[in-house]
Amino acid sequence: MKQPIIIDTDPGIDDAAAISIALYHPNFDLRMITTVNGNVGIEKTTANALKLKRFFNSDVPVHRGAAQPLVDAIRDASAVHGESGMDGYPFPDVKTSDLASTHAVEAMRKALETSDEPITLVPIGPLTNIALLLSTYPEVKDYIKEIVLMGGSASRGNVTPLAEFNIYCDPEAAQIVFNSGLPITMVGLDVARSSTLSHDSIDALQSLNKTGDMLHQIFKHYKGDDFEKGINVYDAYTIIYLLHPEKFNVQEADVQIETTGTLTKGATVTDFNTRYPNCTVVMSVDPNEFKTMFINALQYCD
Ligand code: BDR
Ligand code: CA
Repeated sequence: MKQPIIIDTDPGIDDAAAISIALYHPNFDLRMITTVNGNVGIEKTTANALKLKRFFNSDVPVHRGAAQPLVDAIRDASAVHGESGMDGYPFPDVKTSDLASTHAVEAMRKALETSDEPITLVPIGPLTNIALLLSTYPEVKDYIKEIVLMGGSASRGNVTPLAEFNIYCDPEAAQIVFNSGLPITMVGLDVARSSTLSHDSIDALQSLNKTGDMLHQIFKHYKGDDFEKGINVYDAYTIIYLLHPEKFNVQEADVQIETTGTLTKGATVTDFNTRYPNCTVVMSVDPNEFKTMFINALQYCD
């Protein structure tokens, strides 16, 4: 049976990998893509989602979401993803008529309330839209199966020593989501770092299919951490985890978000000793197995 999912995203080079698999893999029913401010501003993340929609000739609607975090000033990661947020490939021009007219939060609410079965939310950017959804329309929680998010770290961060980018960009939103009472799976930096893809593996994507070639070209422009060692396709781990949860090592924990610390803001404070876990933390996966699952999943793409 297909898993109904919604991807909330800030494309983003690794976001593009997650979206590619979600659009084509027969196990998923991708109901919509919602965009959020993150790697670059909302105009650009939305344009990038539309570029992907056009590249894939997809019917999946793209809804534009929050233009700024709940409280903090906007930060970006154009140093990692390039000025456009998805540098490196000559994507077709975007048509603004391709953008759905409803705001992301309203669109998610409607999709959830009218769905014949609960939907899994897959946020792979800052959690602003999801926090707005849960705090504006708490009744939609009944229609959410779970939230499998890319963000956080049980060890070191990638923006500051303790904070990961998606959480750091909107810690207040993250705190709302982690304490929502919904089943949360944190697919953070730990699991990707346990299974960094080699540059050779990324090169191999080139000959896979048209999607592999596109991803290869954009990943060549990706300046993520551990770049010397290889490439961490962070956002794609959420999708591969949903396909093969049994392959991943997980631990239950209580995760709280540091929202005020001068040096620690955005940290996901992870307590594995708690008796009251609010979250499943995905810790590691065998690197060879991950590589195989990633390539196999991309084989469904054009
Ligand atoms: C996360 O931050 C973004 O730059 C990536 O797209 C990913 O979602 C990794 O920390
Ligand atoms: Ca992202």
